Amino acid sequence: FDPVTLFCQLFMEVVPSPYVPDDVKSDTSSEDGAAPPVIVYERVRLKRNVGLISGTSMIVGTIIGSGIFISPKGVLQETGSVGLSLIVWATAGVLSLFGSLAYAEIGTLIPKSGGEYSYLLAALGPIVAYMYAWIKIIVLGPSSAAIICMTFAKYFVTFFEYCGSPAPPLKLVTAVVIIAICTINCYDTGLAARVQVVFTFAKLVALGLIVVVGIMRMAQGHVKELNTGFTGTTTSSSAIALSFYDALWAYDGWNSLNFLTEELKKPNVNLPRANIFGVLLVTVLYVLVNMSYLTVLSASELLESDAVAVTWGERMFGAAGIIMPIFVMLSTFGAANGSLYAGGRTVYAAAREGHLPEVLSYVHCKRYTPLPSILFTTVLALLMIIPLDVGALIDFFSFAAWLFYALTIVCLFVLRWKMKDAHRPIKVPIVLPIIFLLCSIYLVVAPIIEDPRLEFLYAFLFMVGGLVLYFPLVVFKWHKGCFDPVTLFCQLFMEVVPSPYVPD
Ligand code: ARG
Repeated sequence: FDPVTLFCQLFMEVVPSPYVPDDVKSDTSSEDGAAPPVIVYERVRLKRNVGLISGTSMIVGTIIGSGIFISPKGVLQETGSVGLSLIVWATAGVLSLFGSLAYAEIGTLIPKSGGEYSYLLAALGPIVAYMYAWIKIIVLGPSSAAIICMTFAKYFVTFFEYCGSPAPPLKLVTAVVIIAICTINCYDTGLAARVQVVFTFAKLVALGLIVVVGIMRMAQGHVKELNTGFTGTTTSSSAIALSFYDALWAYDGWNSLNFLTEELKKPNVNLPRANIFGVLLVTVLYVLVNMSYLTVLSASELLESDAVAVTWGERMFGAAGIIMPIFVMLSTFGAANGSLYAGGRTVYAAAREGHLPEVLSYVHCKRYTPLPSILFTTVLALLMIIPLDVGALIDFFSFAAWLFYALTIVCLFVLRWKMKDAHRPIKVPIVLPIIFLLCSIYLVVAPIIEDPRLEFLYAFLFMVGGLVLYFPLVVFKWHKGCFDPVTLFCQLFMEVVPSPYVPD
């Protein structure tokens, strides 16, 4: 009967009317009393599928992507010494931990999905939130997914070359991976969460292997490189800032659970726990993995290699070292899954607030997946791979991402004052967000002052450019009605329905 039902919904404009106790609002009338332009389905919302384990996997699995297998070279190069590079890795982890603690406070105070978007909206108002959504949805989300999938593709292609068979084109593989991840996420959010757990487990095995070998090597006395300590340390502060960019890219994703608070079971307990546990685990692993690299490779060998982990594997295991590229592929696939999962939720949250066409906030009526928002993010990620220059994108990514991290921490202070008496399941010592804020301001300002490139101006213009659309489309709603045919089309063919925010 499903086709008949859909046909009737569309042509008779009838909607379900389940029994609803009086305290639940039903939204079947529009302001002017006319029939609603869209089909309203009562109480369809995303399911709370994510518990402590899958939540922690979400964080660990999004953080550990390609960075730890590639960035150690950059960090060592910029810092100049083994000692300082390890300090940079540890400090970047502690900084991410401060950030995730602050986000745990805000995320439990405002238990909505959408991460930064929802907090900026509550604390600083719709214009800032809109600008964030614009940058995040058009640039940050799709480009980070594209970068990670591109890394996957690179290793996949190398793998073919290794076996001596003709390799498929890089961008084609990237596109196939993006589409595969999109399919998983559209099919079932529970499945996407389980995929995340499995892949996180795989990457923990990989890093665990590197760490165990490292400890064994240290016990055998291969500590010559580690003992070089601080000799050669750079004195340039801009080089240190650059080394932090490399390390912080490897830690990026510490905020990913905040994007799906509405899908978390017991968010007040699980959000803080998963945030703290996830980031701590990654920090310890990253420092140990870096030490392990240096028990097998010398500093100059590390600097010569474009993929440290692979060189490390070849040196340690010979032909069996082929396992390392496989681990990198598993790791990047999982990280891309987490990025798309979290990225889609910003679109979902922003569309629900009227900052994007409403249909992007709809949810599949049977699978409970936010189909339109995932498809939208996927299409943008596919567009990103056409001109992709990974290096430039990461630079741009760090600058814009840290600007909004800083603004979100400002939200924490604003909310402490605006919602003074609200119940806070966790309240962090105020010095932690202050330290985080100062560091993030430095990370935004330092590159602009030291190397004022045109890209930053473009980035800034792009942010402000979004406002040109804000007034006609969001404030005055000149497009009202234009999207109705699209909405109806999507409702009919994707079987999606509205899912307004319903507090517990
Ligand atoms: N840390 C990841 C890596 O090492 C990148 C995370 C990208 N950011 C994100 N929010 N998905 O590759």
